[in-house]
Amino acid sequence: MSGRIVAGVLAPHPPHLVYAENPPQNEPSAECGWEELRWGYERLRASLARDDFDVIVVHTPHWKTVVGTHFLGLPHFASKSVDPIFPNLFRFTYDLNVDVDLSRAIAEEASEAGLVTRMMTNPDFRVDYGTITACHLTHPAWDKPIVVISSNRAYFYFSSEVGDQEMLTLGAATRRAIEKSGKRALLLASNSLSHRHFTEEPDPPEDMSNEHVYNHNQYLWDMHVLQLMREGKTRQLIDEMPDFIEHAISECNDGSLTWLIGALDFPTWPATVHAYGSVIGTGNAIVEWRPPQEA
Ligand SMILES: [Fe+2]
Repeated sequence: MSGRIVAGVLAPHPPHLVYAENPPQNEPSAECGWEELRWGYERLRASLARDDFDVIVVHTPHWKTVVGTHFLGLPHFASKSVDPIFPNLFRFTYDLNVDVDLSRAIAEEASEAGLVTRMMTNPDFRVDYGTITACHLTHPAWDKPIVVISSNRAYFYFSSEVGDQEMLTLGAATRRAIEKSGKRALLLASNSLSHRHFTEEPDPPEDMSNEHVYNHNQYLWDMHVLQLMREGKTRQLIDEMPDFIEHAISECNDGSLTWLIGALDFPTWPATVHAYGSVIGTGNAIVEWRPPQEA
């Protein structure tokens, strides 16, 4: 049987959401916080529970590789992930399994399409919090193998246009490899939308009287791109991506969302927005694209 993408999800990774959930893997504890986004992840999990998948494929902004795109290349990684910006919120003990066969297959497809790729085979490599947070909030059971794809620096060293072209190529290579694998894959793009943020933290961090969008401009941009997703206008979304990145300092400049749109081959069906909310002023949306044949 041909493999397929069961769903693609925009699954943002603010460590605050894991902190506020108080899972046993995370050391710090919180009273509450960011409920709209956390309840949005609950709605996503309920939606994904309707059918099964074999593997989670995640593209993460916080494994930043200077040359090319890298993939976790060993079957098992276990350690503690500490957010370098928020070590007070996120010190997460992880123990995860990797689908190395699919990782290698995607890397080979991407390489044949002209991209620079590399397998990460350092057993002491520490997995980034963008991967762990998105995977945990989407599927906290940790009972599926994952594929982890780094974000290369094309957007930064060249331009957003070059970065988008590379990520669309990588997305198409991801889709081809999944189809050849015979597996059912859930895809996660682990990035926020607008990303200008506050630089002082309230005490306690979960004091929601301090949480709001950073400014109206980036809120308007977030609403615009979400409307495009809800209307299935993903070509327009990619066309406008460089402006969005520049005007809203969007975390889309790490390529995760463009990779997802490429993997889904520019979906024209409406996406489901499970939640939108701010974290230290950044705009975050939990968005699910479920191909019509999977709905
Ligand atoms: Fe981030």
